[in-house]
Parts: sequence; C-alpha cells; structure tokens
Amino acid sequence: MKLTTLLAAVAAVAPLVAAGTFHEVPRGKISFVPNAYIVEYEQSTSRTVAHNNFRTHRIQYNVRKEFDVFHGAALTIKSGHEGDALANIPGVKNVWRVTVNKIPQLTAAVKGKKGQDVLAASLHQMTGMDVVRKRYKLTGKGIKIGIIDSGIDYKHPAFAAKGASEGCFARYGKNCRVKYGWDFVGDKYDGYNTPTPDADPMDCRGHGTHVAGIIGADALDIKGKYKPPQPFVGVAPEVTIGAYRIFGCKGDSGTDVVMAAMEMAFNDGMDVINISLGGGSSYKYNPQAVLAEKLIAHGMSVVAAGGNDGGDGPWMVMDIGLSDKTSSVASFDNTYGLYFSFSYGGKMAYPYMPAETYGYKPLSLPSSATLVPIFEKDGSLSDGCDPSRYKGVEKKVVLVLGDYSRCTAEERGNVSISAGAVAMVFQTTPIGMEFLIGVPEFPMASIENWAGDELIKTYKKNSKTKIDWNKKESNFRVEAGGAPSDFSSFGLDGELRSKPDLSAPGGNILSTVPRSMGGYMLQSGTSMSAPYVAGAHAIYMQAKKKTMRGDFVRQAFKNTATISSNLLSRTKASVAKQGAGLINVLSAIEATSSISPDHIDLLDSKHLRRKVQITIKNSGKHTETYRLSHIPADALNAYPTGNSFPIGDPLIEKDYASVSFSHSKIKIRPGQSTKVTLSFTEPKKGKSNQFPIYSGFVVATPLSKKSIAVHVPYTGVKGDIAKVPIMDKDLGFPGLVLVDNEGNLKEIPSKDYVFDLTNEFPAVMDRLGSHTPDLTFRIYKANSAQTKNTKLSEGDFIGYMLSENMGPGFGWAGRHKNKDMNGNLVYDVWIWGGKVLPKRDPTLKPAQLSSGTYRVVVASQRKLSKGIYPRDFEVYDLGTTTLGSLSK
Ligand SMILES: *[C@@H]1O[C@H](CO)[C@@H](O)[C@H](O)[C@H]1NC(C)=O
Ligand SMILES: *[C@@H]1O[C@H](CO)[C@@H](O)[C@H](O)[C@H]1NC(C)=O
Repeated sequence: MKLTTLLAAVAAVAPLVAAGTFHEVPRGKISFVPNAYIVEYEQSTSRTVAHNNFRTHRIQYNVRKEFDVFHGAALTIKSGHEGDALANIPGVKNVWRVTVNKIPQLTAAVKGKKGQDVLAASLHQMTGMDVVRKRYKLTGKGIKIGIIDSGIDYKHPAFAAKGASEGCFARYGKNCRVKYGWDFVGDKYDGYNTPTPDADPMDCRGHGTHVAGIIGADALDIKGKYKPPQPFVGVAPEVTIGAYRIFGCKGDSGTDVVMAAMEMAFNDGMDVINISLGGGSSYKYNPQAVLAEKLIAHGMSVVAAGGNDGGDGPWMVMDIGLSDKTSSVASFDNTYGLYFSFSYGGKMAYPYMPAETYGYKPLSLPSSATLVPIFEKDGSLSDGCDPSRYKGVEKKVVLVLGDYSRCTAEERGNVSISAGAVAMVFQTTPIGMEFLIGVPEFPMASIENWAGDELIKTYKKNSKTKIDWNKKESNFRVEAGGAPSDFSSFGLDGELRSKPDLSAPGGNILSTVPRSMGGYMLQSGTSMSAPYVAGAHAIYMQAKKKTMRGDFVRQAFKNTATISSNLLSRTKASVAKQGAGLINVLSAIEATSSISPDHIDLLDSKHLRRKVQITIKNSGKHTETYRLSHIPADALNAYPTGNSFPIGDPLIEKDYASVSFSHSKIKIRPGQSTKVTLSFTEPKKGKSNQFPIYSGFVVATPLSKKSIAVHVPYTGVKGDIAKVPIMDKDLGFPGLVLVDNEGNLKEIPSKDYVFDLTNEFPAVMDRLGSHTPDLTFRIYKANSAQTKNTKLSEGDFIGYMLSENMGPGFGWAGRHKNKDMNGNLVYDVWIWGGKVLPKRDPTLKPAQLSSGTYRVVVASQRKLSKGIYPRDFEVYDLGTTTLGSLSK
C-alpha cells in the first residue's frame, strides 16, 4: 500500500476568521473525490457574486455542477486550494467534500422461475394493497415517482403503456410510462472519474430496474419472450416514472451527482423520490440533507432503505443523513418464497435452502441415500459438534440441529465427509431457514424447524424411508414469513431517534430486471422494501388527490401500520426493528384519524422525557370517542455480559415501560384535534448497565366500529446513554501498531522503537460498537504526568493527529459492523506520519512534529453529552511512540 499523500497536501493558509464552515469528511468508511467540493452560498450572495469572489481570491476551479434549489455549486479545485480556503471566501456558508455513495448490497438473488404466483400476490395481501386496487382502482395514475438509481430498462414490456408491447422513454411520448429521466454519469463512471452524461438512462446494472418494478411494473398480460414466471404488478402500475441514473455499470456515485439528480427530479415535478445512499450517520449536516429538507418542505416524499445489517445488533440502521423527515424503511419477509424441496415418505414436501458453498444449487442425490439423524444421549437432535456421534452415516444424509454456538457448519461438514456421509441437512433453530456457509462443493442445506421435527417422526417410524429430491423450485409458505426479516437492520440512531420508521415487504420479492439479464428476478433486501413504500406514497397521493404533503403521508402510514409480533416470543417485535409496523396502505387511506408527532423518542434514563404531548385529530365526518391504550413491545438487550461490542442477536426481554394518559377516553368533533399528555415510567426489571432498548406503541382506538385505530411508536434506552461503550474493549481496541509501507500491520517490537516514517509508521486501530459525536486522536508531550488516563496535563497537549489515510483526528463516527462480507473483522487503521493539527480548526497549517517521543490518546465523546473534555469522553491512553526524523 502506498500511503496516500492527499491530506498531507493540506496547503498553507493564513489563519483568517473563516467566513463559512468547512465540514471535513466524516470518519469511518466514507470515501471522497479528491479536490471536489460542494459549496453552499449565503442566502444574500448571488451565484454571480460568489463566482466573482472566487476569482478575486484567486481560486482556480472548474464548475462540476451549478445547483438550483440548493443554493450553491459543486467545484473541482486546482490543488493548492482546499476546502478550508473555500470556506474563507466571503459569501460562502458551508463547504463539504464530494463524498461517494455506494449502491446498496443485495442479499441472495434467485432467478425468476415458474410457480411464483402465490408469492407475487402475497406481498400485496400483507399490506392491504390487493384490496386498495380492487376497491378503489388506485394505480398511481397521475403521480410521478423519481427513481434515483442505476437507470431503468425502460424498454422492458412491464413498463409499457396499456396495450403496447414494449416500453419506451420519452419526455413527451404520450404512451411512455418512463417519461422523465437523464443519465448523469455514463456507463464508465465509477464515483471518482469524470461523468459523461447523456440523455439516455438505460440500466446496465439491474438494481434500478428491480426497484422500478416493485414501484410500478405491470407484468399481468405480457406474452412472448418476456413473459414473467407468473403475472404480477408493482404497487402503482400506472405511475409515471422518472429514471435518474447516477450509477455507472460498476462502482459508486458522488454526492454532487446525487444532488443534481434530486434537483432534476424536483424540477420535473416528481411527487416522490426514492433514494438510499451509502452508510454513515447524520450527526453533522451534509449537503444531501440540506437539499432533502428543502425538497420535503416543498411537499415531496423521500424514501430510503434502512439497511441489511440485521445480524449486527443495534445502532445499525442506515442513517443516510437525509434528515429526520425521510422514511427509513425496514423489511418483512414475504409470507411465501420460492424454494427447492424434497419429499420424505408421504406427500409433504420440505423446502430447503442450499448452502452458499454449494452454489445454492439443488441437492440431487440417489434415493438410496437415506436420512440419518444424529441424536444426543437423551434422544434430542444433536448439533453434531462431537465427531464420535457420527456412526453408521456412510452414504447417508446426516441431519443435525442448526445451532452454531459450539461449532461451525463447515467443521461439521468435514466431520460428515470423513465419516463417509454424502450430504448434510441442518434443522434451523428456532425457526426459518438459515443461510449456510459449509464445505465447498459438499451438498449441505438448511430446512425449517417444523420440517426437522416431521422428518424425525417419519424416520422413527421407518428408518429406511427414501428421500426424493425435487429438481424444480416451487412456492412455499415460509415459517418466518410475514414478520421482520432477519437481515433488516436495528435502530436506534446515534441521537436515540426512533429509526427505522416503518416496514414493508422486502424478503423474497419478485420484480423486473433488464431484459439482458433475463427480465425477472427474485431478490431480498431493504432495497426492495423502500420502493414498496415509495409506490405506496404514490397510491396515497392519488387517493387524496395530492392534497397531502410528503411528511403527512409518512405520518399516515406510520399511524396505521400493522403492529407485528416476533414469531418466536409471540410478543410485539421491537420498534427498533419494525418501526411503526408493516405498512397497511388500505388502513392509511381509510383512516379518518391521525396522531402527531409520528414517533416519540424518550431518550435515556438521564434525559427521560417523562411527559410527552401528542395531538389526536379527527378528520372524519362524525364526532368520535377515542380510547387510549398502550401496547408494549420487546426490549432488546445487546450488552448482557458487560460486553463493549453489542451482540449481533440481542436478547429479547419482556420488560415494559408503563404509560398513563391525561385522558383515557376523549371525544373529538369532526375536523377538531385534542392534545393528550402521556406520562411514561421506565421498565422495572431491565438492568441499567445493560442498556436495554425498550419500546412500544400508544394507540387511539375510535369507538365507532368502522373507524380505524391509529398509533404512535415510542423508544427509549434504560440506563445512562453516556455509559454505552463506544470502543470495542473486548477485543483490545484501541491499540497502537506498526504499519509498514506494504500496508502490513505488526506488533511494535519494543517500547522505545523508533519509527522512521518512511518504511514504517505508527498507527492506531479502532473499532466502534456504537456511534460517537466526536472521535478524537490526541497527541501529548511524552512526559505528560500520567497517574490515571484522564489525568494527563492538558498543558502538554500538542494537537490532534492528522492521519495520512484517515484525515484529521476529530469528528463524528458511526459504529462498525462486526465482520465484512468475507468474514473479516471490521476496524479502522489510522496511520500517523507525525502531523498534527494544533486546534480543531482545519484552516490552520498542520505541523510536522520533530523527532522525539509522544503520547497518543484516543477519546470518544459519549452520546448526548456536551462534549467537554475529558469529562464527557471515553479516554484511552495508548502510551508513547517515538518518531525518527523524516527523510526527505
Ligand atoms: C475442512 O476441510 C478442508 C479440506 O481438508 C480444509 O481446507 C478446511 O480448513 C476444513 N475446515 C475446517 C473448519 O476444519
Ligand atoms: C431507491 O430505493 C432503493 C431502496 O431504498 C435503493 O435500493 C435504491 O438504490 C434507491 N436509489 C438510490 C439512489 O439509492
């Protein structure tokens, strides 16, 4: 690895009083485009004046993009001038780097096949959309949705106007459903190189076409080559679509491109935009957030995916920094899915999921290979971790319990192979079908929990029963369907706001892909649930004849969502998982009552908002009497053992807050609203030092039978949020290591080791289990008095580390995932070449420290604290490190 010298190039700038603020890139995984900036002007500064000012201050730049709704521009600056210099120009309010957004990852994808009829309809039954379509004939006609994504295969027949056999794209074409759009980037754009825009938003990647199909495909009567596996429709099959393409065929997309697309969507009169961008957190305003707020204020709806990190525990919801008013959407699994299956005596077929390491291929084995369960001494099904229990398994299919706490699927696969078995099947516990990584090429699969029990019963009746492996996939009602998807990320966000907002079907969703990719595909992810909500916004707007603003539509959906149970505990799933519940389009349209605000953030024990006012409105034609009630939901405990990195699968605790109401019944006349005061008491049992996230719903039920009840979700954390661990101490983070110029990490050989800063550098490794408003890397004189961590004399403070690869050592940081896609631990490495920033003022010139010994301290600000150092920080003194002299 070559050390990047980007940040080392920070220019000498006179320490002026900054006119505007330069927001350095947020810490963590966020990448940026070198020398590219987004500049927001003061309201009183016109575009012309701003450019004059740049010129008189001898800034050399090119304009990447002039914005319109957003008062500013994206610029590329000749090196020598950096963001801080721009911030100093009169009339400049804010400067940000152009950062890079990633296209969201999808979970497993399965090619479209026959037999998806049930599956294609079941999602609309889950959300009441089937009734809405029949009863009200709502199809999104007259509503425009802008899809900011990888473009759309607009020639796909599912996007054709009624009666036409092929779709089309033309702004004025009467019969084109994709009527608006633009390609902002060109095929070769990857987020870092120069975009080559053109007018044609054709999709070469598939993602945008899948999203568009969920929103608005009409694949009911397609014949011929692109006949779907089963007829289906998107949520709003007559909606008008804008295809704003911001991704090339590979790679990422810059903020300036996304903002340009958001503006064009607005100028084209889109009612809803669908947008979801790379990770991060919204501690600090970013330009996309500034723009999103403006668009929402103009009445647009902005919908975004909540993220697919459900295996990583709390604080993980993708907080795209698009403001509190966007809808962050979680996922529910479709009630049906398409699976391979086998039969085992009798007619019943058992669906299974082949292991990733078997390429998700169907298991095809001779029927002479019979089943052999591995039992424990007490007769229960064994996890198969003990090799001595594998007896008589030669040429057979081994069945074990899918418990992965004692050993991995791969280890058990190897044991099975050496014992002579031909395949291995795992009974998922407690329910569902587990995604398996086993031994490459060895047939392995997971089955549902009930299936395991049935197989054992049959086996006990006749151990010679044959297995028939079916070659084709078919529809199955799935055990874990109709409930929150495992992969869907948990909230809350870094400021304890209740996120995600609500859920929609996102697991096992059939939709369109470009014709060149086969036309149809089944996919899972919050990238599937978010467009469902975007489509539902269109339906709602059509139903209400566009009299409602975007933020009101979100409230209507949240108020009327279906509160769902956790399938295991049968208690209500946490609000941090399901948000306000599963979207119910029918109830949202038919409801004549509403509650605002649409969520209640109780914060932590220290800041607990004991009394909260809500407003209930009766917009119906008759006086209503409402009964108020409380539905508690699961509390989640991710710190059960004093661990500092949250566990991925938080414990569910039946520990509930209690709520009392200023009125338990209230009468409200038509068109009127009434305020009700709620008094909250924290849950009693939960341990404050384990920081359970508790939650629930406050419901207003109209007594007249036909009227629909409305609710508002609440969330809180028991304990002092300031004490929630930030750094992963369990694994010994943070720590000082040696990095060589190949990028290898090594232990530092000795305490007084001298780094030459040419071939070897000191580096700090960090790994965060929750957000921090400010992660600082502080450098002190070596001899600084050190009795206790926090007792360093601040008089010996030299400055903040300026890392060669990570930039300035201060600013907010989101939490890390546990492992990356390849199973490697996730952390950051801050390589230090001896540069420091004396103050938190990026306009100051960094200093290169002379050779000598320095003390390195890492400190992360506790959540919701004022940020007074060291009182409000977790502080780690990493000891001293010795820098040699720089060889020039
Ligand atoms: C399983 O066996 C393969 C081949 O011998 C080996 O490479 C792999 O490391 C083994 N896996 C485990 C977990 O023992
Ligand atoms: C549109 O929404 C879906 C779901 O959030 C997402 O996968 C897609 O990438 C979105 N568009 C953008 C620009 O992110």
